[in-house]
Amino acid sequence: MAAESAYRPPSLDSSPPIMLHRNEGRLPAKALPNIAATPADRLRCYPDASKLESIIARKLGIKPNRVSVTAGGDDALLRTFLAYLEPSRSCILPAPTFEMLTRYAALAGGSVRSVRWTKGEYPVDAVLKSAGDLPGLIAVVSPNNPTGAVISAVDLRRLSKSASNQLIVLDLAYTEFADVDLTDLALDLPNVVAIRTFSKAWGMAGLRCGYALGPAEAIDALRRAGNPFPVSGPALFVIESLAAAGLGSQQGYIDQVRRERERLFQFLTDCGCDAVPSQANFVFAKTPRAESIWRALGDRGIAVRWFSDGEDLVNALRITCPGDEAVFAQLIKVLGEIFNSRRERQ
Ligand SMILES: Cc1ncc(COP(=O)(O)O)c(C=O)c1O
Repeated sequence: MAAESAYRPPSLDSSPPIMLHRNEGRLPAKALPNIAATPADRLRCYPDASKLESIIARKLGIKPNRVSVTAGGDDALLRTFLAYLEPSRSCILPAPTFEMLTRYAALAGGSVRSVRWTKGEYPVDAVLKSAGDLPGLIAVVSPNNPTGAVISAVDLRRLSKSASNQLIVLDLAYTEFADVDLTDLALDLPNVVAIRTFSKAWGMAGLRCGYALGPAEAIDALRRAGNPFPVSGPALFVIESLAAAGLGSQQGYIDQVRRERERLFQFLTDCGCDAVPSQANFVFAKTPRAESIWRALGDRGIAVRWFSDGEDLVNALRITCPGDEAVFAQLIKVLGEIFNSRRERQ
């Protein structure tokens, strides 16, 4: 059954020039490949993702039947939910987490059980208790959105072993920004499907391309749970060349994001906000003035994400690190002015 309304986050009246509200990767234009060079046949023919699947498989040292290229991580998540959830099955989600997961569970007809995970270690014991003995699905988002918290390798291994009757869907959308990448470990575990994307560290959200990795039977189930040509020919053409070259050209941007993340966390903490240590390309912080700060930033040309409801989301902001020194300096300057003007008025 479809959700009651389409996904629409809170938006400002105008569209500010600096967009730090959707965690998109913002690579410099010169690092972006030329989509206009797409050969004519890649426009004329139905797209074939097998070349990109082979490139990814080769990089990871696995067989191509363990990779399915999808229309972004979103499509991979939806396929996993459609393939593994049904009305008699439950899905365990961390709370808070990426809000589309609840919607995908509803589309698959399964029920949702939430386990609180606001910061720090992933709550393995509480998740195992909630999962019980019946087969179902456990979604782990690491780094989690919106908090940036991560599951450790030890906890992922324990979760997989103790919940052997569950499929664990491990959403690694932000893994390139984290200290530890769990992809190789996930590939060694028999009940884990890992989901990756070209939208974040690779800076290609507009191309809508991601992929799922897992046991061959699970990947086959995902292929059957959606349309056969999810990613367009030009998108595949561009991403094949990027993926073959590896993350090299994005590394400077990723390092810059990591530096900004620590500085932004410290800045928000010094301003009295309850900021969460993050391993993603954003920082999540709570402050009673979240809404007015969101509006004031918007008035000064900077969009960030404001959350207004949900037990652990009320009065919260999530700010994407731009990965660009000049834009980051502008963000800190404007934030400083907003916090200082408040102090003066108090
Ligand atoms: C945790 C998480 N997973 C998946 C996605 C979907 O990304 P995409 O469909 O662009 O790959 C997002 C997007 O914001 C996300 O935050």
